Amino acid sequence: MTLASRKILLVVSGSVAAYKALELTRLLRRAGAEVMPILTAGGARFVTREALAGISGSRVHDDLWAAEAEIGHIRLARWPDLVVVAPASANLLARMAHGLADDLAATVLLATRAKVLAAPAMNPAMWAHPATAANVATLASRGVGFAGPAEGAMAEPEAGLGRLAEPSDILAAIEALLAAGPLAGRHVIVTSGPTQEPIDPVRYIANRSSGKQGHAIAAALAALGARVTLVSGPVAIPDPPGVATRRIATAREMLAAVEAALPADAAIFAAAVADFRPEAAPTQKIKKQPGAPPPEIRLALNPDILATIATHPTQRPRLVIGFAAETEQVIDHARAKRQRKGCDWIVANDVSGDVMGGAENAVHLVTADGVEDWPRLPKEEVARRLALRIAQGLAP
Ligand code: C5P
Repeated sequence: MTLASRKILLVVSGSVAAYKALELTRLLRRAGAEVMPILTAGGARFVTREALAGISGSRVHDDLWAAEAEIGHIRLARWPDLVVVAPASANLLARMAHGLADDLAATVLLATRAKVLAAPAMNPAMWAHPATAANVATLASRGVGFAGPAEGAMAEPEAGLGRLAEPSDILAAIEALLAAGPLAGRHVIVTSGPTQEPIDPVRYIANRSSGKQGHAIAAALAALGARVTLVSGPVAIPDPPGVATRRIATAREMLAAVEAALPADAAIFAAAVADFRPEAAPTQKIKKQPGAPPPEIRLALNPDILATIATHPTQRPRLVIGFAAETEQVIDHARAKRQRKGCDWIVANDVSGDVMGGAENAVHLVTADGVEDWPRLPKEEVARRLALRIAQGLAP
């Protein structure tokens, strides 16, 4: 019973995926939570209030003025430990971002002081629209958590992001937000993925990092109750549930996003940051000149994000962890790197095999006290062990 007696206000808005709110309700109740549903007019087109009432075992609130007479929107807003919006339609996200209070759901979302988790579901074009992206960024900057959307089959035969996250993934995000894990109340920053350094408007320098390890670390930290800010370069994997993800492209943008996320109790730098960037990125595409030699690209040094944060004069996190991807003398190089960068721990791995992009990783944890050799493990398990060690490291 991971959610025993936790109170969840479940807002169901208009999307074909609204039927999955019934499965989510069932999972929440099985985990011990109390669920009170709010159904928007759009939501009621896809799922009946009777079905929601039956599965939640609660009254379903769907009308601002009726709720006013019975319980009042302020009491509804004060009731939950967490407000979950699943599915969150493009329209409801827009109304939330703009602070509208034009129905019961929007009014309660404006009045609540509880944490809000939104699980978007919409057509991929609507999700990709800059208006939705701006609304999501606004909501994320105010602390709204997001679970999904995911990729996969949808009502329309259209590919892309927009499918409602699976109810079990939404449940995991809810548990991560509510569980009083050993990292509850801690803020941890994680970097992940590659960076892209523009050569011109169409070309860039990047690397083969998939973001799997960094994303798994962010998810594992959230599962232990931490508030996690994940700063990620361009990757093809979804944002981890229950984590505030900031997407950037260049190393300099990554540094700015990490600095903006400070203060933090710990920071884990798992990204494969480009050491160099093209010194000048012309605004026009570099053209092939007949008869002329190929252009030379001069490189400039990128900031070292790990070293910058590890030596931060005022806001150094208590625990700063770097990664060392090496192809030889793994441990000696990692020891030297720990000293040179001023970080507390180095997670060292041998990348001569298929680690970059692969599913498994064999790492050595280098600390001031020595070296721990971990067996070859799935990246999720490396992440889980590292998150537990971080919880120990931050314990009072
Ligand atoms: O020096 P090297 O690139 O091998 O160091 C790897 C570690 O430093 C990783 O934790 C990586 O995320 C971090 N790093 C960084 N900024 C850079 C280069 C590396 O944060 N510009």
